[in-house]
Amino acid sequence: MTDASSTRQSIPLIIDCDPGIDDAVALLLAMASASLEIRGITTVAGNVSIETTSTNARCICELGQRSDLKIFPGCPRPMVRPAIVAAHVHGENGLGGIHFPSPQLPLQQRHGVDFLRDSLLQASSPITLATLGPLTNVATALIQAPQMAQNLDRIVMMGGAVGAGNVTAAAEFNCYADPHAAQVVLHTAAEYDVPVVVIPLDVTHTAIANPARRQALRNLHNPVAETVATLLDNYGLREQRDMGFSGPPLHDPCVIAYLLQPALFELESVPATIEITSPLTQGRLVIDRNRELDLPGRIELATSIDAEGFYGLLTEALGRFS
Ligand code: BDR
Ligand code: CA
Repeated sequence: MTDASSTRQSIPLIIDCDPGIDDAVALLLAMASASLEIRGITTVAGNVSIETTSTNARCICELGQRSDLKIFPGCPRPMVRPAIVAAHVHGENGLGGIHFPSPQLPLQQRHGVDFLRDSLLQASSPITLATLGPLTNVATALIQAPQMAQNLDRIVMMGGAVGAGNVTAAAEFNCYADPHAAQVVLHTAAEYDVPVVVIPLDVTHTAIANPARRQALRNLHNPVAETVATLLDNYGLREQRDMGFSGPPLHDPCVIAYLLQPALFELESVPATIEITSPLTQGRLVIDRNRELDLPGRIELATSIDAEGFYGLLTEALGRFS
């Protein structure tokens, strides 16, 4: 694999995820990009159980020919509310029912929260955190050792909806699955002046893997790109039908794309929090453009993505696999 971006200084990165089809694509995009130095992958319960997200992370590392990566299994359930899963979107195995060989890559013995906390406490230079699932691991680590935030360069997260949600009318999956954790993360980051880039559903819903974009991946004729195209054929079919999309939205890879090519996105700096108490709007990303509420959080909210540029980046990156 060669990557033109490898000449740039690399970004030390921890990826917290719940694979999940779009998490899998995000992981592969990161693995294909030499400018990202993946220090570790932590898994969390979300799209499917912690056992399954952890197995899937192992399968995806092997698919991406990166058995050198370390995977640390994290929290098996949200902080307060009962767990929900999204097997109806990602399939019972979290990977659209596609069969992967049993992975040989072992899971690390250390808990994901311990890895996150200690990596940040001991970091000699700032680390970027990419979050692709519910924020349970990150919030737990921040509660244990809030000073770890001093070594966070930034958090880039997929989550939240400014318009309609995808689990309830108000809430997007990652924020709905563990709203308390999401609130802890936003508030603690603000307290320590850590930038939080939030890529919400409103943006990822414009990054659709339409048939032409899936065909472009297939045309790369390598096993990774072909597997991604097959995964996307099976992803979120009900959501596509309900929303009138011509393919699945690629939520989580937007996080990695932001790290690689931030110019693909427009951002707006806004005060924000996550609603945790209201039964109707629990998990809502509340933004206060008019600065009326004196909210404790502040985010860099993505408001648009250059979808053609994003798919160009993804296709080029996956073309690096042999
Ligand atoms: C988010 O929820 C999950 O189903 C996806 O993996 C993504 O992280 C989109 O709402
Ligand atoms: Ca995810």
